[in-house]
Amino acid sequence: MLSTKDFVLSRLISCNGYISGQSLSEDLGISRAAINAAVKTLRSEGYDISSTTNLGYKLNNHPDQISRGELLAYLPDDRMNDVIVLTEVDSTNKYLKGIAYDGAPTGTVVIADHQTAGRGRLGRSFHSPSGCGIYLSYLMRPSISPELVSRITCWAAVAVANAISSVCGVTPSIKWVNDPQINGKKISGILTEMSIESETGSISSVVIGIGINVNEDPSEFPEDIRDTASSIRHETGKNEPILRSLLASKLIEELDTMCSRFPAAHDEYLASYRKLCSTVGLEVSVVSAHNHESEIPRLGKAIAVNDDFSLKVRMSDGHEEDLRSGEVSVRRI
Ligand code: BTN
Repeated sequence: MLSTKDFVLSRLISCNGYISGQSLSEDLGISRAAINAAVKTLRSEGYDISSTTNLGYKLNNHPDQISRGELLAYLPDDRMNDVIVLTEVDSTNKYLKGIAYDGAPTGTVVIADHQTAGRGRLGRSFHSPSGCGIYLSYLMRPSISPELVSRITCWAAVAVANAISSVCGVTPSIKWVNDPQINGKKISGILTEMSIESETGSISSVVIGIGINVNEDPSEFPEDIRDTASSIRHETGKNEPILRSLLASKLIEELDTMCSRFPAAHDEYLASYRKLCSTVGLEVSVVSAHNHESEIPRLGKAIAVNDDFSLKVRMSDGHEEDLRSGEVSVRRI
């Protein structure tokens, strides 16, 4: 449920100047006293709001927060009906899978300021600190065969790249299969989880989990990812924090577009993916996804992304292999 405070904040952000108490009260259909109370609460949360006679209210600062009011400034009111905003959760994917089981509709979004047990691919964890990243899960219920679900992850990588490109002015590349990168550093991770109806073998839900490192200082990352991961702010050298709510709203829009066009717009998303994929043309080392220490990597050169998003690699002995996500992991050498 959206509160008066959410509506007031969203209007203060989107008007980008002064807005009178009278017009807020008329627009929202609530009393001036309720507007005053909402402004007071927002001030206590760190929003610097001035009030000037004859002009009204003005938002002077914009703390980077993930909240319903912030998202409402950029998304239509009715879109927010299916957006769940949490301060803390163990994992947005886990939470969304739970409510998907109870019947949540396609397009339901769960977003959190931080996760206490963020999940990554292959049973890894995903570093999800408070106040600097985006941790978002999106629900789809596509009528497709389960083998095609891995394609959704590639479409989602395109959606992430598009959102970052339009909000941050930098277009990430995609390391096959679905790691958005800036300057060769991973700035986002995508984990797609599917539930199948056991009686029919058909898909009951697909949860696309997206984590984006937005404003982190990479020196605070856990040691094992410090050399390979970074944040958008760090890689773009921006002085001010990037507004996570603005980027998250753009991402939700991109995911809505993706969801409405899946799978018909295959050719278009494949073409975008090919343009963004930075792995093709590189010498790579191939290991099985669950890479055991004793495994000797096989060397080759990535030569194309196939129509099904698999990666064609010419191995060092000259034969070609089509690698599928989940089976292998590819590293640049
Ligand atoms: C990876 O690169 O290993 C995938 C990381 C996916 C992380 C996101 S954050 C939001 C969603 N909730 C989770 O627990 N994981 C995904």
